Amino acid sequence: MRGLSSALCRAAARTRAELQGARGRRLSHYAAAPARPSFGIAFDIDGVILRGRSPIGGSPQAIRRLYADDGTLKIPFLFLTNGGGVPEYKRALELSELLGVNISPSQVVHGHSPYRELLKRFEDDPIVAVGKGEPAAVMAEYGFRKVLSIDDYASHFREIDPLAPFKKWNVGQSNCQNLMSEKMHPPYDVHSERVKGVFVVSDPVDWGRDLQVLCDILSTGGLPGNGKGDQPPLYFAADDLEYQAAFPSERLGMGAFRIALESIFNQVNDLPLKYTSYGKPNPFVFKNAANILEKIVMGIYPNSQSTKEVKDHQLSTIYMIGDNPKVDICGVLKAGPPWSSILTRTGVFRGTDNDPKFPADLVVDTVDDAVSCILEKECIR
Ligand code: G3P
Ligand code: MG
Repeated sequence: MRGLSSALCRAAARTRAELQGARGRRLSHYAAAPARPSFGIAFDIDGVILRGRSPIGGSPQAIRRLYADDGTLKIPFLFLTNGGGVPEYKRALELSELLGVNISPSQVVHGHSPYRELLKRFEDDPIVAVGKGEPAAVMAEYGFRKVLSIDDYASHFREIDPLAPFKKWNVGQSNCQNLMSEKMHPPYDVHSERVKGVFVVSDPVDWGRDLQVLCDILSTGGLPGNGKGDQPPLYFAADDLEYQAAFPSERLGMGAFRIALESIFNQVNDLPLKYTSYGKPNPFVFKNAANILEKIVMGIYPNSQSTKEVKDHQLSTIYMIGDNPKVDICGVLKAGPPWSSILTRTGVFRGTDNDPKFPADLVVDTVDDAVSCILEKECIR
């Protein structure tokens, strides 16, 4: 509550300053510009906005309150999720449809969004993308040229998965066309070109096959079936042990897969697995989200300031609304000001009070309650 009450004081001070500013503008005949909000909101998705594909906690109405009557964005906000598996523009379309507002791709930050920053290093290198959805399409959209999904990569090695004949399900049905064209024209020769980087983009689907193939790639220096070699770099988009999803109790997430891979790899190799994990609760994710929110504000209120003034007008409060104390609230605690945390009871957290280890600034039932509190504190009607 401490963070929120200081936010309230800051909001009151800002309101006074805005009133004085407005008086000044009238006196000097400046054109009346719309008031630029001094706060922004970051919404977690799973367990706050959606469970599976179903909106929860009054999320459509909560999000609609951030838009003006004519449908233009009024309050700067974005989605800050450790999930992903589709390009940001596709997730923006999906969220727009589910929530009934116009979400732009710049308002979607996935766990894998920071992989863009690795483009220079891996742009022309053979890489493998792992996870549900369209992991290779995500990486190709970021500009990586030689990318294969782990499904396509594994399909070029006969017998790499000795259990494949026992798997009765059909894999990749929805992506048949991509699969066919990639098989005819793979972006690199998997039998002669070493994999230079492995990117876990979203939750892995076929854990058994993926653990086997990743151990092969990582132990052999990127050429399965060959002798031991230097481990290529390995990246995880997030490290969530569990997440909410649609089932009544939590599901194992990317962090659980990482633990499985790491313990197996370390048993069958002399050197321990090296890897880098992105996603919340890393403070750089929050820093990046704050920068994106600033840009969103500039997009909504383009005439409200010059470049020099940006520094003085940085958002004074950014509210993170999350359901997972270990991820969302811990991230805010690490990031520090201007971040302030609100924990909902619609996902991983179900407590009556607050989380003992990672206490949030405020605990509410739903995302709609969280937005009500924010708008009230910030004196927005
Ligand atoms: O797979 C998604 C999950 O790990 C977390 O999603 O939206 O709660 O950060 P979110
Ligand atoms: Mg969540």
